[in-house]
This record gives sequence, structure tokens and C-alpha cells, in this order.
Amino acid sequence: MLENAMIATPEEVCRMRESLESDGKRLVFTNGCFDILHCGHVRYLAAARELGEALVVALNSDSSVRAIKGDGRPVNCESDRAEVLRGLRSVDAVVVFGTPRVTELIRTVRPHIYAKGGDYTPETLDGEERAALEEVGAEIRILPLVEGRSTTKTLARLRGGKGRKLRLGVLGSGRGTNLRAILGAIDAGELDAEVVLAVSDNPEVGFLEIARGAGIPAMWVEAGEKLGSLPMAGQKAIVERLRAAGVDLVVLAGFLRVLKGPVLEAFPDRIVNIHPSLLPKYPGLRAWEQALEAGENEAGCTVHLVGAEVDAGTILAQSRVPVLEGDTAETLYARIGEAEHRLYPRVIGEYGARVLQKG
Ligand code: GRF
Repeated sequence: MLENAMIATPEEVCRMRESLESDGKRLVFTNGCFDILHCGHVRYLAAARELGEALVVALNSDSSVRAIKGDGRPVNCESDRAEVLRGLRSVDAVVVFGTPRVTELIRTVRPHIYAKGGDYTPETLDGEERAALEEVGAEIRILPLVEGRSTTKTLARLRGGKGRKLRLGVLGSGRGTNLRAILGAIDAGELDAEVVLAVSDNPEVGFLEIARGAGIPAMWVEAGEKLGSLPMAGQKAIVERLRAAGVDLVVLAGFLRVLKGPVLEAFPDRIVNIHPSLLPKYPGLRAWEQALEAGENEAGCTVHLVGAEVDAGTILAQSRVPVLEGDTAETLYARIGEAEHRLYPRVIGEYGARVLQKG
């Protein structure tokens, strides 16, 4: 159908589409980096090809892979990636695109079917890309991901899960004392990690000052007036930046907005939070005051995994402190804070090592 060139031009792909259409056949289109091919890719592409009569893969150029995945990627250059893809029975053409989004190419090629891997839902597809797909009348098909196969895992296995620093993305809304404790533990050589991104919903907090002071790329996300909530656009922007920074573990350190689908799905079991109470007791705001008012004789803090339910999720560790005679909310919170600053870096290190091992 196409000459033997490894990389087709958009025009060639358009001609391919027209000739298919005139025979009453359908062109399937998908896009991605396809850096180190594994059987997850192979099975996904075979399933995509089954949706129509020919499959075109739009391949991210080297510079766009770098922009999405950070320096150090891709491992294989675009011509090699294209050649490997063309070696698959399921792939009829590869076209390279260098823009951050594939929107333009969708408009040019006007595929009949657009396939995407199952880490997306029609709702979490990029808005512009979805609009372009609707405009050209493409049918969107989300295909299930093949369990346990990913380039990240392959890379982690190559590194033996070791010898690589854990990459943290830290989110906060307040003073930033936990961020400072994490950075302190890193400096002291107690936590083998680096903070590669700091995100806040408030442009003027100590948290961001500490991040900037430490030379950490900092991001402010527009969160709107509604306390506790973060609009979808903000959630997606966070996912994009966390991914681009190559974050292994997302660390919530006093982030006062609830994370939803896009972030939770992008980092399953890879988001941790610290809460100033011995959960499941006293979830919610000002937990130490709740403990004091209830007449508890001990309080503390909890590090837990983050899921859809606020201040719930698997507990990773807790630290207890006494409630002393004459304690005020301030003195008790200060004591809990000290416990947090010892506990959080330690648990991040331990849990992070498990994350790296799993890949
Ligand atoms: C901490 O008390 C933490 O338990 C809670 O938010 C507070 C953050 O404090 N989730 P800081 O901004 O790290 O000083």
C-alpha cells in the first residue's frame, strides 16, 4: 500500500485513507512514544489493527518524547522506533509528529477510528484532541492495557530497581514544613530521593518559597474559589507536569484540594499523604483539635496511600505522641509536627523503594 519508506508523510497517509475509504474500509489511527517496545505494545497494536483494515501509528518525535517524559528519553531515536514498529504485522504506516499534541495530524488524516491505550478514558483525552476527533467524525476506542508490561518497568528491571534516585513530586498548600523536612532528609543522606516538582494551589505560600529556594521546579495550579476542590483542568495539568517530570511517587504535604480521577488513575498506589491524627480517628481539618476536644491522651500522625476517599486509604505508618497536661491546640500540633517530620521522610524512602522495585 505504501512504498517501503520507514516513515510516511502525512500526505501519503491521507492517500492511504482515501483509497481505503473508496473500498469501504476503515483506517485506524493511534499515537504514542513506543520507545522500548514490549509485548504490551505489540498486543495493543494488534488489537487496534483489528478495529479496521489498516493501522497508522503517529509516533512522537524525539523532541516531543523529551518534552513529555523528561531528559533521558527516548532511549531509541525516532527512526529506530519507526523501523521497529514497521516490523510489526499490525502496523501499516508510521508517521512522525513533533507537536506536543497530535491534533493537527488528526485533522489532516481524518482517521475513521482513533485507538488509545486504557490509561485514558474518553473524558481524560486531551480536550483539543477530542474536539479534533469529533470534528473529523472519528470513532474513539479505548483498548485495555496489558497488565504488568510497561517501558518504565522494563527500564526499572534493567536498573535492577536500584541505582536510581526516587523522583518525588510534592504537593502542598501551606507552610511547607514537611517539604523542608523531606529536603533536609535528602541533604543528610537519609532519604535517597530528589524532589523534581513542587505543586501548590496557592501562589504565595511558604511551601512554594521553600521549593524555589531549593531550586526545585515549582508549579502553581489555578484552583478556583471552591475550598477543597480542584477543577478538572487543574487535575489534568498536574498529571501532565508530574508525568513530564518523571515522578515516581506523589507526596501530599498539606495539599488542601481533593485529587480526583485523572491524578488517582495516573498514579495508582503511588500517592501518599500525611495526616495529623491517628487515622481512622479524626479525618478532616484541624484533626489535633478534634483529638484534644475529645479528651484523648495520645495523638499522632498517619502516612497513608491516597484514594478517592479523603483521609482514608491503606495506612503505611503511624507515629504516636502523648497529649500532655495543659496542652493547647498549638502545643499539641507542634509536637505532632515534629513527629511528622521524622516519620514522613522515612516512610517515603521505604515505600518509594517498593515503588521503584515494582516499576
Ligand atoms: C501537616 O500537619 C499535615 O499533617 C497536614 O497538613 C500539614 C502540612 O503542614 N496534611 P506543612 O505545610 O508541611 O507545614
